[in-house]
Formats: sequence, structure tokens, C-alpha cells
Amino acid sequence: MNARAETNVDRGVDGAAGPAPERAGEVIFAAGLVKQINTSGLDSAEGGASVLSILDGLSLRVATGESVAIVGASGSGKTTLLSLLAGLDLPSAGEIRLAGESLTGLDEDGRARLRAGRVGFVFQSFQLLSGLTALENVMLPAELAGHTDAQARARRSLDQVGLSQRLGHYPHQLSGGEQQRVAVARAFAGEPRILFADEPTGNLDLATGQRIVELLFEMNRARGTTLVLVTHDSTLAQRCRRVLTLRGGRLHE
Ligand SMILES: Nc1ncnc2c1ncn2[C@@H]1O[C@H](COP(=O)(O)OP(=O)(O)OP(=O)(O)O)[C@@H](O)[C@H]1O
Ligand SMILES: [Mg+2]
Repeated sequence: MNARAETNVDRGVDGAAGPAPERAGEVIFAAGLVKQINTSGLDSAEGGASVLSILDGLSLRVATGESVAIVGASGSGKTTLLSLLAGLDLPSAGEIRLAGESLTGLDEDGRARLRAGRVGFVFQSFQLLSGLTALENVMLPAELAGHTDAQARARRSLDQVGLSQRLGHYPHQLSGGEQQRVAVARAFAGEPRILFADEPTGNLDLATGQRIVELLFEMNRARGTTLVLVTHDSTLAQRCRRVLTLRGGRLHE
């Protein structure tokens, strides 16, 4: 039950030691995260420079195999936080370690290498490539991660989300919910160690949403995939082992 507290003590993460071994049980470590955006010029109603503070000294530790829900008001910074944790964006200050490796010390290529095969991401806005079919979209990360059976994985993954009849469709030929399921299938196909999902059921009807939720937790149970979910759905949030609320730029348990 108290795996988190234990790993906090054991890791000595504030020391200057090199990357800690992954099996110590902590897969995400974030401390002192600050994200500020210079908004001068973005808002024509405002003259001069102004800085928008989205995250303000946020800390988070997640043990391997945990499931964590992040909830909070629209605009509170949930998508921003997920992008930072997955190494898709850099914080203004603070440190992030993924599987014992410092993300914040890596350049973009280094972060991409760290993500490949370890991190799956379901984007709130799907981010499917418009020139690729559903099957090709799902195959891509598995191919990049070096899986020789990328196509078989992609087919299996699309079948799991109920889209085996839509393999050759391009994103514009799919409904919003179907695109969302392609995005979920893409994140599954690489069998990531950590899965970040931003509102994975936001566009789905109840039954389809439940099916996707079952898949997420099945991955968590069967493969020990660590889940970090952003959701406005309280039923989904309550199924996670921890529910954290993002407010005032920090997480509250
Ligand atoms: N690139 C950017 N430039 C300017 N402002 C930004 C940028 N990215 C995010 N923001 C602002 O930061 C805040 C947090 O955005 P974010 O998308 O992380 O919120 P969220 O919690 O995911 O909201 P939602 O629940 O609506 O998806 C918002 O006020 C947003 O307008
Ligand atoms: Mg968001």
C-alpha cells in the first residue's frame, strides 16, 4: 500500500548520484516543476510583456505499475503537465526523471529515444497523421520502437478497440470517437511501460468508453503498465489507485 512512501525514502533522488536503477520502483519523479509562458503579443487586449504561470513548483512521484488520475478544472494545466512528464515539452524549471533517467537533461533527440518503446501517449486532440490510414498511424510508433511485427501489433490493437473494420480509413473518414480509439490503439501497440492518456474517453459514448477503460486497466494489471490519466470522468478517476487534483499549479492528493 505504501510503496510510494518507501521509494521516496529509498531513492535519495535529491542527491547528485547518477540515474537510479529502474527497479527501485519509481517510474516517474518530478520535482519543483515550473511552467511559465510568455504571453506578450498573444493577447491583443494586453499591452507589454506578461507571464502566464501554469505550473508552480509541482512535485509528483509515481511507482511502477501504479494508476494515477489527474483531475482539475479546465485550463488548470493538466495537458501541460502530461506533455512535460512525457518529455514532449520542457519545463521552465524543475526536474523530471523517467525510469531513472533525467528527461530535463536530454535534448529533443535524447527525449525521443527515451520515449520510444517506453512511453505511450493518448493526446486530447488525437494527433493522428492525416496522410496515414488508421493501420499506418498505429503501426508507426511500433515500427520506430524497432518492433518487426509492427503490423500484427497494430491490427491486434485496432481490433481491441473495435476498429478492425476501419484499418484503411484516413483520419478525416473517421468519427471523433473512432479517431480517439485509433489514438488509444496507437498508444497500446508499442506496449509502453508508462501510458499517459489525456481524456481518453472524452469523445466516446458510455459503452465504448467503458470498453476503453477496461483495456487501460487490463494493460495495467496484465503488463504492469503505469497509467497516468487525465479525466473529467469521476468514474474513471475513482478506478485509479490515486486521484490527484491540479489546482494553483500544484497537485493535491
Ligand atoms: N502554448 C501556450 N501558449 C499560451 N497559453 C497556453 C499555452 N499552452 C497552454 N496555455 C494555457 O495554459 C493553461 C493550461 O492549459 P492546459 O491545456 O494544460 O489545461 P487543461 O487543464 O488541460 O485544460 P482542459 O481540461 O480544458 O483540457 C490554459 O490557460 C491555456 O490557455
Ligand atoms: Mg487538457
